[in-house]
Amino acid sequence: MSDLKITKLDKYYGTNHVVKGIDLEIPAGEFTILVGQSGCGKSTLLRTIAGLETADGGSIEIGGERVNDLPPRDRDIAMVFQNYALYPYMKVRDNIAFGLRARRTPKAEIGPKVQRAAKMLAIEHLLDRYPRQLSGGQLQRVAIGRAVVRNARLYLFDEPLSNLDAQLRDEMRGEIKRLHQELGKTMIYVTHDQIEAMTMADRIVLLREGRIEQQGAPLELYERPATKYVAGFLGSPSMNFIPCTLSVAEDYGTVMLPDGVTLSLPPSRVAALAPFRDRSLLLGIRPEHLSRATGEHRRGLAEIEVITDLVQPTGSRTYATFRLGGVEAVAELQSHDVSQPGERLKLFADMNRAVLIDAATERVVGNG
Ligand SMILES: Nc1ncnc2c1ncn2[C@@H]1O[C@H](COP(=O)(O)OP(=O)(O)OP(=O)(O)O)[C@@H](O)[C@H]1O
Ligand SMILES: [Mg+2]
Repeated sequence: MSDLKITKLDKYYGTNHVVKGIDLEIPAGEFTILVGQSGCGKSTLLRTIAGLETADGGSIEIGGERVNDLPPRDRDIAMVFQNYALYPYMKVRDNIAFGLRARRTPKAEIGPKVQRAAKMLAIEHLLDRYPRQLSGGQLQRVAIGRAVVRNARLYLFDEPLSNLDAQLRDEMRGEIKRLHQELGKTMIYVTHDQIEAMTMADRIVLLREGRIEQQGAPLELYERPATKYVAGFLGSPSMNFIPCTLSVAEDYGTVMLPDGVTLSLPPSRVAALAPFRDRSLLLGIRPEHLSRATGEHRRGLAEIEVITDLVQPTGSRTYATFRLGGVEAVAELQSHDVSQPGERLKLFADMNRAVLIDAATERVVGNG
């Protein structure tokens, strides 16, 4: 049975339609990540599930029971907020225990529960400190501890790592994922960070302006995006989008760019793409699917020549920027593949992995 079932959920703030008829089912034990740009309605959706906002239409079921009319405390949900607030005058131990006491948990159970949560989050040594004596990362852990100490059906996290520096975020991501594996609870986690979504989720639900644009396993969305929006949202640096048209003759297909560059498609893809010949399309190709052309020419690799105008080493890889088909494009190369701007480079474009997008509808075509 699914732990959470949302049907045709609507939420307005005045005349602002923020959640637009969302249908969503989350199986028990799954770690779902809601991701999307700032303002797309992630927090609103989460707060409506928790009962902190009232739904204007549709239904929310938790464990098979409709909860629209239940107050938050009766929904069996624990939540960590975007701007969590700890009680400043209570020690960490009491902050974590607060929800248990409020729910009249027997005294003898509280101590061991707090201890266990603190152990999981590696904050046992901080239990007797006050919040003002903690670092940002430690505070965040306490806020998470306060939620997970409760035995709730559903755990909701709203950007719990947003206040942390990059390194601490990396660490905490791993820890929250591990926490999920240990507890096996149903969790919904909101972020606008696509790396967080990719690395942590069992399933990503990508929201756009109050609607679900696409949902699926992280690699499913990454490798088989349904729209230009999804293709561009996931991945860093972003997928390149280059205007093009397609010409097909028998089982031979060629992608033609405005600057005269042509790229052959693998024969296996031609039949599915043939209906889109002569349409206005975009070639979508990820930076990592452009590589330095070396001797052998494998099937599906199309050779192009570019002149780099920007070289950005990251250490493990180097990003090279150049013009292709009249727009700027990026290739993610081996660190020493390119050393300075102005260099002429031969690249292979992996046309097995490239997507074609209908420029008018912005939907990926010929992927079926
Ligand atoms: N209490 C409120 N009253 C009126 N409008 C609101 C309220 N809360 C949010 N909104 C509006 O609803 C829309 C969605 O906001 P929401 O907070 O859900 O976005 P979000 O996806 O969580 O964004 P972020 O990533 O910035 O946290 C925004 O346009 C916002 O201005
Ligand atoms: Mg938010």
